Amino acid sequence: MTLNELADQASQRFAKASGRPPRWIVAAPGRVNVIGEHTDYNDGFVLPMAIEFYTVMAADVPLAAPDHGGGGSSIISINDTLFNETAQIEVSQPVIRGEPKWSNYVRGVIAGFQWRGEKIPALDVLLHSTVPLGSGLSSSAALEVSTATLLEAAIGKKIDPVEKALLCQKAEHQFAGMPCGIMDQFISVMGRKDHLLLLDCRSRQTEFVPMSDPGIAVLIVNTNVKHELTGSEYPTRRRQCETAAKILGVPSLRDATAAALEDARGRMDPVVYRRARHIIGEIERTVHAAEGVRASNWLTVGQLMYASHRSLRDDYQVSCPELDAVVEIAEAIGVEGGVYGCRMTGGGFGGCCVALVKAESVEAISKKITADYQKRIGKEATIFVSRPAAGATVIKA
Ligand code: GLA
Repeated sequence: MTLNELADQASQRFAKASGRPPRWIVAAPGRVNVIGEHTDYNDGFVLPMAIEFYTVMAADVPLAAPDHGGGGSSIISINDTLFNETAQIEVSQPVIRGEPKWSNYVRGVIAGFQWRGEKIPALDVLLHSTVPLGSGLSSSAALEVSTATLLEAAIGKKIDPVEKALLCQKAEHQFAGMPCGIMDQFISVMGRKDHLLLLDCRSRQTEFVPMSDPGIAVLIVNTNVKHELTGSEYPTRRRQCETAAKILGVPSLRDATAAALEDARGRMDPVVYRRARHIIGEIERTVHAAEGVRASNWLTVGQLMYASHRSLRDDYQVSCPELDAVVEIAEAIGVEGGVYGCRMTGGGFGGCCVALVKAESVEAISKKITADYQKRIGKEATIFVSRPAAGATVIKA
């Protein structure tokens, strides 16, 4: 479904539920990370792109009639079309965590605007999303950034894109309890059509790397194994990286070299050593992959993706048998069959793989991956193709 079709649907559903068209329609995309995994919280580089799957919000201020808006003029009422569930958020006082669980991403962003001193208006909101949940495609960042974009429209004030992304990241830290890095929120805010985003997570400098070659397609293979990142694995990895940096005497692993790590190997827990080896190698791979994309050197980019996967599987240990199966199947298809490279993408432990493929072979590759995955894992894989998409937008204001 195109963004316009999705926005039309949201608009119609809003109109059906509230008897009037929405005043605002906004959207924020999910993302897929081409390479640079778990490097964002190590001050490293990432290379994500926004995808053509969006979280859309259609909204208006509540009607004045007392029997409308479910409780007066200080409530943001959000109906999620997926679960047909409504969250009611009181905005006349500091917003805190609450139910349902998904509303915490929204609550955290509202609180972020309140901390900036903004007065938040009451709103009736319809939430309509095509970003698959729990698939490592950043449905949570899409929800946060969509909320922030709606609030900007409703209060008539734009905030700086970097501050906006950081506000959304803080919402995730404080309201969802997930100590994520900055990648997901940055790409959902800043994505650009037909470009990857090379983001330096230390300086927050951005470079848009063009990727409009019609002969190349990005395939996203969902293993349909739900990934759950709020558990202990993600914060444990973060701590291990901090421990390694401390032993190496550097502020973060961005400042470490492979040689320094080898020197310190004897002074390090072997697990901590392997975590650091992944990060140091991955930061380097990401910079090289961006060069490869600039030069349309797809063979090189593909090899770097496979190397990234092996490192995530063996050193960082965030893969799972289903993700490994997809990568092995893709590697077996090979360049002759149209696959340049493939790797797990996102936090890990399930979710999706990303593959760089020849556009002309998309159909054959998809068929082969689906069939072999079914044979090996006994499960259906879902495959999407996406061009690099634009970041958050106001569709109607
Ligand atoms: C999750 C986090 C990101 C990043 C990735 C791993 O998606 O939200 O900040 O750390 O994992 O690269």
